[in-house]
Amino acid sequence: MSLNDSVALVTGASRGIGAAVAKALATEGAAVAVNYFGSEAAAKAVVGDIQAGGGRAMAVKADARDRAQVEAMAAAVKVELGPIGILVLNASIGFPMKGILEYPWEAFEAKVLGEMGAAFHGCRAVVPQMLAQQKGAIIAITSGLARNPGWGFSAHSAAKAGLEGFVRALAFELGPMGIRVNAVAPGLTLTDATADLPEKHKQAAAEHTPLRRNGQAEDVAEAVVGLLRAGFVTGATLPVNGGGHTF
Ligand SMILES: NC(=O)c1ccc[n+]([C@@H]2O[C@H](COP(=O)([O-])OP(=O)(O)OC[C@H]3O[C@@H](n4cnc5c(N)ncnc54)[C@H](OP(=O)(O)O)[C@@H]3O)[C@@H](O)[C@H]2O)c1
Repeated sequence: MSLNDSVALVTGASRGIGAAVAKALATEGAAVAVNYFGSEAAAKAVVGDIQAGGGRAMAVKADARDRAQVEAMAAAVKVELGPIGILVLNASIGFPMKGILEYPWEAFEAKVLGEMGAAFHGCRAVVPQMLAQQKGAIIAITSGLARNPGWGFSAHSAAKAGLEGFVRALAFELGPMGIRVNAVAPGLTLTDATADLPEKHKQAAAEHTPLRRNGQAEDVAEAVVGLLRAGFVTGATLPVNGGGHTF
């Protein structure tokens, strides 16, 4: 699949993995909608970088968990860039790290519903635009923690495992209409989300990883581009973890 002339919407693209994915898709020739929630200046900087490289991009604000905002965002992108053919569900839904006996149900519920809501609303808003084109590709950014446990991550693991199930279900339903749906599951990746992890924790993770380093946002972006190009792959989860199995 060539990304030339396609229109992509990347949720949570003002920073981290989403920003790297937005830039990589633009480099491949896609026009890119850079969704943000709180970081307007950072989103505009990503758009500026893409435009400076000769690409087309727009920044668009929406809370990925809010159906009305997501629907308005999808409509605005269609008007400004054209019908969306690529959707990357990346927005990072925050959560506290706590053992299960200390986990407040409200925080657990907010994480799981937020993750599911962002995926559901994103797909419901964008899939009609893909159906009209009789093609499309959706990539959800899940996590190695969907399958491999880590202390304090019960809500995140549950949410990302649910997201993987949603990906497989949509791949099954939407495949006959020419829409592929896949997941990319990063391991520990150096972004703002992991900036507070102790350095010794990051070093230990690198030492236990066959490729002997921590992941970078650009590593995940490369995998997203690869999966978008792989036209006969759907319902798959691609780990991007340097061969590590602990995160
Ligand atoms: N970093 C890792 O080690 C790692 C590992 C596995 C999976 N992941 C997954 O990769 C994805 C990106 O994570 P990251 O590490 O790149 O995070 P990050 O650097 O903290 O960036 C988070 C991004 O999500 C956006 N966001 C947060 N809440 C949002 C909302 N309600 N609506 C729309 N956008 C929202 C932020 O936008 P604003 O700043 O504009 O609010 C920002 O662009 C997440 O799904 C995460 O679970 C990360």
